[in-house]
Amino acid sequence: MLKFNGKTVVITGGTSGIGKATAKAFLDEGATVIITSRKQANIDATIDELGGNISGFVSNAGNFRDLQAFRENLQKHTHTVDVLFVNAGFGRFHSLEETTEEAFDAQFNALAKGGYFTVQQTVPLLTKGSSVILNTSVVTDMAMPGASVYGAAKSAVKYFTKSFANELKEQHIRVNAVSPGPIGTNFFNEAGLAEEEQETMAAQILSKVPMNRFGEPSEIAKTVIFLASEDASFITGHEIQVDGGIVQV
Ligand SMILES: NC(=O)c1ccc[n+]([C@@H]2O[C@H](COP(=O)([O-])OP(=O)(O)OC[C@H]3O[C@@H](n4cnc5c(N)ncnc54)[C@H](OP(=O)(O)O)[C@@H]3O)[C@@H](O)[C@H]2O)c1
Repeated sequence: MLKFNGKTVVITGGTSGIGKATAKAFLDEGATVIITSRKQANIDATIDELGGNISGFVSNAGNFRDLQAFRENLQKHTHTVDVLFVNAGFGRFHSLEETTEEAFDAQFNALAKGGYFTVQQTVPLLTKGSSVILNTSVVTDMAMPGASVYGAAKSAVKYFTKSFANELKEQHIRVNAVSPGPIGTNFFNEAGLAEEEQETMAAQILSKVPMNRFGEPSEIAKTVIFLASEDASFITGHEIQVDGGIVQV
């Protein structure tokens, strides 16, 4: 018996890495999946690659007009949502001295403002017993070089987890977070770092991971599936770190 037969799952940023792996995991469990991304070409390629009950629409989590149109666009695909995974995002790493207003705003717009209004827009479509999962990061539990703004924006998302869990409890909507450690995705290629800086950063991170490896996107997907499922029916306002022990050991 597939766990998500007849259920509709929305994943923001579903064209790569963690979002794409999670889309695949939900499709494999029988769900109908709707993904978003900034680029139609990436959505088309993901639909071609994954196949099955998947569709998508362009929505930039860092653009307020797109956020305001989110529900209207979503309703072209579904009138109810059983699982929302707020995953869209990127990290740009700068020192305190180098951070510009533009970099600061772009990061907060996509992660904090984007996460907040994505949930606000989706709430009217969420069914009784549905589940929202927010993607945070272990940088909210540890200082990482260049991650002051990224970590602060993710810390806002971490706070939303508890706050939304409290606000939505009467509607029987559970809200939880998954907090990934370093995962092998396009994230680091998109971080605005030169190749050499990327390699230095990867080596620095790896040296701190007790399990001595980067995680796989599918390892985050499995946790999202758990939090979305009936197996987590008494869990809300919680954040699960999936991090090879980086903030635990
Ligand atoms: N990889 C890690 O080590 C790690 C650790 C902790 C947390 N995370 C979090 O995990 C999430 C997914 O990242 P990933 O590692 O899977 O990286 P990724 O492979 O670069 O995937 C990022 C996804 O988000 C989408 N996206 C980025 N900015 C967007 C925006 N403004 N609006 C809509 N979609 C957007 C991208 O789609 P398009 O490019 O097609 O728009 C893509 O589908 C992020 O929130 C990230 O902060 C990652």
